[in-house]
Amino acid sequence: ALAAGACVLAGCSGSASGSSAFPVEPVDFTTPLAIPPLAESRVEEDGTRVFELTAQEGTSEFRPGVATPTWGFDGPYLGPTLRAKVGERVAVEVTNDLGEATTVHWHGMHLPPEMDGGPHQMIEPGETWRPTWVIDQPAATLWYHPHPHGRTEQHVYRGLAGMFLLDDPAAAPDLPATYGVDDVPVVVQDKHLDDEGRLTLDRNSTEPGLMGSMVMVNGTVGAYHEVTTERVRLRLLNASTARTYNLGFTDERTFHLVGTDGGLLAEPHETSRVRLSPGERAEVVVELEPGEVATLDSDSPDLGDVAAPAAFGGRDVFEVLELRAAPTLTPSPPVPDVLAEVPRIPESAATVTRELEVAVRMINGRSMDLSRIDEVVTEGATEIWEVRSIDPLTHNFHIHDVQFQVLDVDGEPPPPELAGWKDTVYLEPRRTYRLIMQFADYSDPDSPYMFHCHLLRHEDEGLMGQLVVVEPGTEPPRTLPTGDDG
Ligand code: C2O
Ligand code: CU
Repeated sequence: ALAAGACVLAGCSGSASGSSAFPVEPVDFTTPLAIPPLAESRVEEDGTRVFELTAQEGTSEFRPGVATPTWGFDGPYLGPTLRAKVGERVAVEVTNDLGEATTVHWHGMHLPPEMDGGPHQMIEPGETWRPTWVIDQPAATLWYHPHPHGRTEQHVYRGLAGMFLLDDPAAAPDLPATYGVDDVPVVVQDKHLDDEGRLTLDRNSTEPGLMGSMVMVNGTVGAYHEVTTERVRLRLLNASTARTYNLGFTDERTFHLVGTDGGLLAEPHETSRVRLSPGERAEVVVELEPGEVATLDSDSPDLGDVAAPAAFGGRDVFEVLELRAAPTLTPSPPVPDVLAEVPRIPESAATVTRELEVAVRMINGRSMDLSRIDEVVTEGATEIWEVRSIDPLTHNFHIHDVQFQVLDVDGEPPPPELAGWKDTVYLEPRRTYRLIMQFADYSDPDSPYMFHCHLLRHEDEGLMGQLVVVEPGTEPPRTLPTGDDG
């Protein structure tokens, strides 16, 4: 009965026959992959590295000859890649040239709540917002995107997103690292155009959100990337609103997973598929033979749960990106056996355990309220969050400010792909994910961080809660002063 219900909601039909109700159109790989430019920055007297970003309107040509209105940072679609070093103070001057208010959230970043760019840090049209913080976490592939409450799906879908790379020169294993050459951002998104060539979210308007007919990388539909080295590192980001991908290659070759959301893994994990739900990142290193073509695709594994077909847009298989190796390749060092130190947070360090039950558009039976504080965390505390989806619908779970570690899934130790730093985790239905995390600093009883499902329609429709970090021994009121600061 659950399966039938999920299919009614998801509009998935004929999954037994292997077909999809919302197929992705096949593409020819005829367009070079667009590489988001590295953002320029200036360094102020006190050493602060300052970036500027302007959210603006423009048009993009996703289909030949069709001008699609889109939004972007410093351009018509997506935004430049920000890049900073561990230990550096950064500031970003974000200007809103759109016709409506937005925010910019630094996904995966450890930073003070008022710099976080959540729904309480709205930037009105014509205004500039200047958050500043010190990079205090391992090297990682993070990203940025708007977070206006109720409008996040629209704003991200129209094109507002970009990568934020953190480097740690003191702890950099020998991995491919030439940006845009053998260290390549791969922002995967799906879209759907209406008859006038405008982006629409209407197709499959129920669960779990849009399953678009076009899949693009860095805004390029049918992209190829010319590979000139023996190994190439792909920084994969699922910046789609709802679709989960199961990325690999059409020839099922293996590659090395070297990093997840919050940093490098302790050691590489050889695999042939990586599942990415919205908001998740993975760094992989792929090896190519001279002259060969390797095609990145996505398939839909049978996950043994009823949510899977809907999450993946039905049992669909489609190609995403072509890697074309040059006839001769520059040698690359082998993937190191040891990548990073990933100290395990001991379970015994946790002093608080919270249970979060996810269902429909609620966490623990409550839907998002901007004026309500749901969880109060003490600065310095190590906590275990037990997150469980009791829904046949698809969800994942993301928390701001911290990177967590998965202690176990239904009591089993995490698989290698969940063994590193994570900030977003796919929730297989009715399984309990025990996440351990430390709230190191930045207490502020008046400024909350968010936790939510990163399927953006779910988030917009209330599957989100707020936490504040407070000094030991204090207990703030459970409502925010006004709630009108949005
Ligand atoms: Cu990437 Cu609260 O979001
Ligand atoms: Cu959800």
